[in-house]
Amino acid sequence: MADAPRIAFAAFATPTKGVLVVFMNGELRLGAATSKLLGRNHDLVARAASAEKFTGKLGAVLDFLAPAGLQAERLIVIGSGTQTPDFVKLGGIVMGKISPRAAEADILLDLPTGAMKPDQAADFALGLGLRAYAFERYKTKRKEDEERRGKLRLKLGVADVPASRKAWGRREALCGGVVLARDLVNEPANVLHPEEFARRAAGLKKLGVAVEVLNEAALKKLGMRTLLAVGQGSARESRVVVMRLNRGKSGAAPVAFVGKGVCFDTGGISIKPAASMEDMKGDMAGAACVVGLMRALAARKAAVNAVGVIGLVENMPDGKAQRPGDIVTSMSGQTIEIINTDAEGRLVLADLLWYVKNRFKPKFIIDLATLTGAILVALGHEHAGLFANDERLAERLLQAGTATGERVWRMPLGPDYDKLIDSKFADVKNTGGRNAGSVTAAQFLQRFVDKTPWAHLDIAGTAFGTPPSDINASWGSGWGVRLLDRLVGDHYEK
Ligand code: BES
Ligand code: MN
Ligand code: ZN
Repeated sequence: MADAPRIAFAAFATPTKGVLVVFMNGELRLGAATSKLLGRNHDLVARAASAEKFTGKLGAVLDFLAPAGLQAERLIVIGSGTQTPDFVKLGGIVMGKISPRAAEADILLDLPTGAMKPDQAADFALGLGLRAYAFERYKTKRKEDEERRGKLRLKLGVADVPASRKAWGRREALCGGVVLARDLVNEPANVLHPEEFARRAAGLKKLGVAVEVLNEAALKKLGMRTLLAVGQGSARESRVVVMRLNRGKSGAAPVAFVGKGVCFDTGGISIKPAASMEDMKGDMAGAACVVGLMRALAARKAAVNAVGVIGLVENMPDGKAQRPGDIVTSMSGQTIEIINTDAEGRLVLADLLWYVKNRFKPKFIIDLATLTGAILVALGHEHAGLFANDERLAERLLQAGTATGERVWRMPLGPDYDKLIDSKFADVKNTGGRNAGSVTAAQFLQRFVDKTPWAHLDIAGTAFGTPPSDINASWGSGWGVRLLDRLVGDHYEK
């Protein structure tokens, strides 16, 4: 990851040299502090707006070099639109307009409706940080740009400096969580194999997270046979990582997050076609989200008891790999007939869900998984699929989705779908045929959670390869960290 730009807050004073960024809204009005600062340039901006047919539309730009009477070497006026903007998005838009070559920029967080409030300023800064992210670790020829970007100093002009700084502290933690998730998703599988992933997750110890790494011997002892069956064709050992944060009411049941961490998915013996198989280095995005979330919660000292559990395996074809037709006894005791070794994510999750439900008796379990190509067919990159056995949890996730822009779309579950995964030889089979592929996958998972309030997020369409947006220019999106941080913050902190 490139070093992040340094973000500081300062009072609405006269900015220094470098780039000066200000806002103009859809009525072509400036904020009071902006007006004052621009002085005679206010008139120049108005004339330029008219000459350029600048309408103040969100993200529109007027660019002035060497403006007279200002210390700045460049003045950028950005349209803030006609409504109250999404401040995270606005921050992303502004970051996209600042050249990577700029050394410093002053951004006046002042709108015609008034100075941005501390929370809004912090959201804005989050947008800056998210958009500035680039995964350039393996670009040997771009080191110089990378270094320059890391040296960029951003000074945000606000009315209330201490309160803005404090609000940013929490968002900065969140930004770090998203960035960590993106880094993990972007890393290639020759580097990020299960052991290395576990090592990186263990880095959260520094933030006060209790981390246990379970090796294959420990997993065998626990009886996680279906998880181990997926990994048995790989030269790399499988791992399960348990992360715990205990800042909530002492003794209170935790909230639990479970992530699919298939570090690479070849499909196994039911091997995938070659086209786009390289994308399957991202098949651990559910696990990446859980680690990013735990990092965010820990760094912002969220008052919650939370557990994050991830199953790390590599799905490879090999003489030792599992075969179609194999029957495996899961940790729950239910037997599973393997029809297709490429339906491996649900096998990993089956044992994890059972384990988490029994060990932690959590308030709820939310699992995240790049589980099915079928969810891409249904929802594209715009929504993750939401499956839930609990109405309140589903409703809260839908709300958090709207609030953060990490949107989820409710999909059905129901006993009628069970028929599709009943097996001739065992209790259940691991695929249900072509129809309703995402639903039968979720229905399979449901057999391993009993009555625990549970939601499953199928993130195959949102975790990687999403079109570039105002707040993400990278392949891995870090999807879900902001959604779940919001869910926790809104409902589960003491
Ligand atoms: N990891 C894949 C799902 C996937 C596909 C994620 C494309 C992201 C992009 C999963 O393990 C898988 O292979 N699912 C199969 C299930 C099928 C064999 C029932 C699929 O979706 O084809
Ligand atoms: Mn697969
Ligand atoms: Zn997979």
